[in-house]
Amino acid sequence: MPLINWEESLSVKVSEIDTQHKKLVELINKLHEAMKERKANTVLGGIIDELVDYAINHFRTEESYFDKFGYLKAVQHRKEHKDFVSKVAAFKDDFARNKIMLSMEIMEFLKAWLINHIKKIDMAYSDFFIEKGLK
Ligand SMILES: [Fe+2]
Repeated sequence: MPLINWEESLSVKVSEIDTQHKKLVELINKLHEAMKERKANTVLGGIIDELVDYAINHFRTEESYFDKFGYLKAVQHRKEHKDFVSKVAAFKDDFARNKIMLSMEIMEFLKAWLINHIKKIDMAYSDFFIEKGLK
């Protein structure tokens, strides 16, 4: 069973962003699966890199719309992105240096962060983006 199941309550009703969120869900599930299968650290590290890179690109997409449309809650939203990237990048470095193992606790952190972020922080721009013409 996947760690995260995509469900309609996660949709921000903008297809480009939903597609990217689904890809993030897929990468977290892929990492979870690889961890359960006790894949080598090089394999896990590769998926972690992929997740970090994809998240950075995805945040860039959202932030470019904040700039384009003059989104009022952009400052706080950008901070959430920045804090997440620093946290996961620090984990990525510790993992690469064998200072830390991938654990269920970390998987649960990734899952909770993504779900809470989409449901509380991203959902707040949904109506605004739609009003600006995104669909
Ligand atoms: Fe976001």
